Amino acid sequence: MATIDRSLVLCFLLVFCVGCAYCETVYVATGKNHTFKPEIPGSIELGSWKHTGNLVVDWEAKSDPNFYPKYKGRASVNTDNGELTLQVKKEDSGVFKAEIQIQGTLKYFQSTLEVMDPVPAPKVTCTQVGENVTLQCSVDPPAKAEFKWTGPNSISYVGNSVHIPGKPNEGSIYFCIAKNQVNENVTEFKLKDCHYKETEQNGNAGVIVGSIFGVLGVIAAALGGFFLYKHNKGPHDLIPGQEPETKGEEGTPLEESRTSKSLDKDSAAQNNGKEVS
Ligand SMILES: *[C@@H]1O[C@H](CO)[C@@H](O)[C@H](O)[C@H]1NC(C)=O
Ligand SMILES: *[C@@H]1O[C@H](CO)[C@@H](O)[C@H](O)[C@H]1NC(C)=O
Ligand SMILES: *[C@@H]1O[C@H](CO)[C@@H](O)[C@H](O)[C@H]1NC(C)=O
Repeated sequence: MATIDRSLVLCFLLVFCVGCAYCETVYVATGKNHTFKPEIPGSIELGSWKHTGNLVVDWEAKSDPNFYPKYKGRASVNTDNGELTLQVKKEDSGVFKAEIQIQGTLKYFQSTLEVMDPVPAPKVTCTQVGENVTLQCSVDPPAKAEFKWTGPNSISYVGNSVHIPGKPNEGSIYFCIAKNQVNENVTEFKLKDCHYKETEQNGNAGVIVGSIFGVLGVIAAALGGFFLYKHNKGPHDLIPGQEPETKGEEGTPLEESRTSKSLDKDSAAQNNGKEVS
């Protein structure tokens, strides 16, 4: 009994697998052209394609094919070999079946189409707890994708997050690769771009805020100096013969820019401090 059951199963599997050589799924990115190729030899007398049972196109030898309206303008068929080319939309997912008559005999071909959007560039977020850094990769809008990481020394990790224990090397660069059946997309992340949150990170945040204020200070000083200069210069221009005073005023922007430079140096020193610690 058991032997018979087993051979039945084997027979069923064999039939199923052979049948499936023609129904394997093809994945195509939205908007791309895909060509279904029946590759059935012989001269076609009659042909048709159906999508999940509904007519896509039919034709007779030596005459123009008739396309169902919703495929017009984005599909073409080679009436000699039966190849159907379609610029795919999401709703085209499903089984495409060709029925072809050659020398009075019907032949069939079928293929399962799955249309999906390509994966956009993944987004990397970084969180730090103590000295440990965790990088998280995601796609927006959320979609089915596989995530993989590569990092320094050709290390690679599978999964959407990577945990980097211990003091991170700020110079390190990690890559998140998001992949689905139609493409893969990569985003680079430099550890130094991590937004620090906790205790020791406050120090770093201070430096960042400090440098921002430093830069703002430089801009403000420069603008201030410029307007002061403009303001003083304007009226003097109208009154000739007051050169010395104007020259005196021109000293102001110089003074201002000297202050800016030292501000700049301060923040540079702070930055250096960050790199050393
Ligand atoms: C895709 O197919 C459509 C319709 O058959 C055609 O008009 C278009 O030129 C094709 N595009 C490419 C890139 O082959
Ligand atoms: C990656 O995604 C961006 C959009 O986020 C897209 O413009 C680009 O073509 C994609 N790259 C690949 C290789 O698919
Ligand atoms: C940092 O990671 C190590 C190893 O994964 C773990 O043992 C430790 O508790 C983590 N530290 C913090 C503050 O999360």
